[in-house]
Amino acid sequence: MLIKKNAINKVTDAIQTSIASNNIAILPPMEISDALKLIHILELKFSVSMLDPWYNKGIGGVRDDYVKFICNILMLNSTIAKHVYLWGFPEIVANFIDKIPKPLEYTCWLTWYYKNNPSVIRGWRSAQQTCLHLSSSDSTLYPEHFLTDKQLILKEKGKLRYMPGPPSVIEAALNIGFIGKKEQTGHPSQKPISVYEPLLRMTTTPGDSVLDLMAGSGTTGALCSPLGITAILCDESEEYIKLMEKRLNVKRLRVKKYINIILK
Ligand SMILES: C[S@@+](CC[C@H](N)C(=O)[O-])C[C@H]1O[C@@H](n2cnc3c(N)ncnc32)[C@H](O)[C@@H]1O
Repeated sequence: MLIKKNAINKVTDAIQTSIASNNIAILPPMEISDALKLIHILELKFSVSMLDPWYNKGIGGVRDDYVKFICNILMLNSTIAKHVYLWGFPEIVANFIDKIPKPLEYTCWLTWYYKNNPSVIRGWRSAQQTCLHLSSSDSTLYPEHFLTDKQLILKEKGKLRYMPGPPSVIEAALNIGFIGKKEQTGHPSQKPISVYEPLLRMTTTPGDSVLDLMAGSGTTGALCSPLGITAILCDESEEYIKLMEKRLNVKRLRVKKYINIILK
């Protein structure tokens, strides 16, 4: 018991130290269910949890238990994050619309629309991904973060008649070939920063913390400094943890042995 308590303290300290100096803590590579179990034991809470799993088609392959796998992840997220974003292709994300675990509720069906996907099949060329935005009733949305200077002045004067929100369709090119060359890390499914930015801007305010346990190349982490937020990141892949360490210039926490004790 004492050994486990000591391990919990070591991991908590390591997370706090890394966040204090980098705004980011990268956990050692771990399967998301283990990482979520750890987060629950450490009693950490977040404004947002970003869930961008493999999509059950194309890269990452197909899992027979995909619906069960995602439902379990949603359930484990439902009490630790006020907002949850679940990414995927529309026909896959549609499976979860009627499986939202309480206290989360449906908030919005977001679409990322991109024109520049190369055509690989004869027929419709895929040009969209879906992001299901779920949140609990005590969560906060910040549409005011999208106001122009002119609208801000009107708001201060009490003359803004309604709060305009950003569109639920986000148009941004895929980072591919020469597009987004500077941003590209080599991760096969990296989201553009311009796609994640409105999501995090809508649901966080400076000082808030975000969780991304399938962080891939670390796009969520790349937004920490610009938005003044902090993040805990992980991924099951050693290769992608290395990629995010390099991209974010943050070293992973060397706490694997303590995590093993905690999860035993
Ligand atoms: C679509 S990519 C995420 C890309 C990321 N949003 C970015 O912008 O770079 C999916 C990521 O989930 C990770 N992943 C898939 N299944 C996982 C699991 N069961 N546990 C932890 N990570 C997982 C993969 O290694 C991959 O990096």
